[in-house]
Amino acid sequence: MTLDKPILAGVVGWPVEHSLSPLIHTIWATRAGINGYYVPIAIPPNYDEFAQSMDSLKRLGFKGLNVTLPHKQHALRYADVVSERAEQSGAANMLTFGDAGAVAENSDIEGFSCALNEHATQTSSARAAMILGAGGAARGVAVALKDSGVSDLRIANRTREKAEAIASEFDLTVIDWDARNDRLPDLDLLVNTTSLGMAGQPPLDIKTEILKPDAIVADIVYTPLETPLLNAARVRGCITSDGLSMLMHQAVSGFRAWFGGAALVDDELRDALVNELARRETR
Ligand code: ATR
Repeated sequence: MTLDKPILAGVVGWPVEHSLSPLIHTIWATRAGINGYYVPIAIPPNYDEFAQSMDSLKRLGFKGLNVTLPHKQHALRYADVVSERAEQSGAANMLTFGDAGAVAENSDIEGFSCALNEHATQTSSARAAMILGAGGAARGVAVALKDSGVSDLRIANRTREKAEAIASEFDLTVIDWDARNDRLPDLDLLVNTTSLGMAGQPPLDIKTEILKPDAIVADIVYTPLETPLLNAARVRGCITSDGLSMLMHQAVSGFRAWFGGAALVDDELRDALVNELARRETR
């Protein structure tokens, strides 16, 4: 028996123990017969700790890391090379260590696009879309939707100035948070990037009954998997896309880059993640 040096990668965040990424990567590594480990690493929420940890992990031979909250901007600052996508969205969720140094990328954007492309016919004909929220996730969604050719893109956020900042950067129309329901009837696509609807948070107040029945409704929240918004949209007959789809798709780039194997987003993977979420709920 021989023991090759294992490939090392992981996810850094604060907190990080809730992350499903270790399970996703471990399933793909096992399927591909790859000798590798993908570990969760908690790094306190300040740049110095982040940078020191990155130096150490690089030295220890890590191929790369997924970066989650609150370090997505720290990753940009730390990187030697920043991809166009990461630059555009102002955040990186991947750092890859190589000859060029630390390369920052944003696979959240591609993850969101791929999740929507599971409903390809409808998405490609989406003309009018509205993003709810104006945090980091909203920026990535704005980049993805602009790229996919949505011509009438609106954004509504409780704090209007934050919506205005994103709108001026990506040429969107700002809708008053209180007027969000007035702008639903002609939408092809509605995306929630706020934390409303997440377990322990109030639900999002959206009049799903006035949405077009063939509209797509996407939510980046995945705890619960079916948020009150997605539930109401499904009852209305809309196509729904949950936060787990985006999470699985965003992981593909990292796995390919670091472990070098096939990374299939399929029902088996989804079932494993759904089971893990259910297991956590009963703990
Ligand atoms: P992320 O980077 O993951 O998008 P974030 O920056 O914390 O996370 O953004 C959370 C989003 O949820 C914001 O758009 C926030 O609105 P504000 O910019 O006004 O804070 C939105 N949000 C959180 N709680 C909310 C609430 N009770 N009502 C309306 N919007 C809320």
